[in-house]
Amino acid sequence: MAILKIARMGHPVLNRVATPVADPAAPEVGRLIMDMLDTMEDAEGTGLAAPQVYAPKRIVAFFVSGARAQREDGADGGVKIDDVPLTVLINPVVEPLSDVMALGWEACLSVPGLIGEVPRHTAVRYRGWTPKGEEIVREAQGFHARVVQHECDHLDGILYPQRMSDLSTLIFTSELSARGRVEVEEA
Ligand code: NI
Repeated sequence: MAILKIARMGHPVLNRVATPVADPAAPEVGRLIMDMLDTMEDAEGTGLAAPQVYAPKRIVAFFVSGARAQREDGADGGVKIDDVPLTVLINPVVEPLSDVMALGWEACLSVPGLIGEVPRHTAVRYRGWTPKGEEIVREAQGFHARVVQHECDHLDGILYPQRMSDLSTLIFTSELSARGRVEVEEA
């Protein structure tokens, strides 16, 4: 196990299209995934994509807290949102389920110190393979869908500021308290 260095915006590894993983069960893929999970935990990230640790492969990891999703999505009616368990996806594909977009704040371990409002599809279907070679197919909404879109964008060389429609909301995290918001998680 190892905690890896995280690439920051400006490094070319973050701007290139990552290559598909030929054999999800290969030992070196397993080692990379273990290191990604160690790095994500150490950095207290919500998610991490392999290019962020200088490995231009199509692998993402994420965990979505149900409580966090509840706060982000402003869910009312008392319907509890379940946690999305720690998920590793190899060669993931994301497909929007509608044209509806919503703005939400995002931060990124590769863009430290900043946060911005990013439009994302509110509902997506995604699929990919686990390290055991099992296929995962899920439908996601709201914050869950946002996290998946953010991570999978990394595999196409896209960082969240490139998705922003209004760069005036790209601000320092330290200014957030002035806006009455203190919760930031990076992905
Ligand atoms: Ni990110």
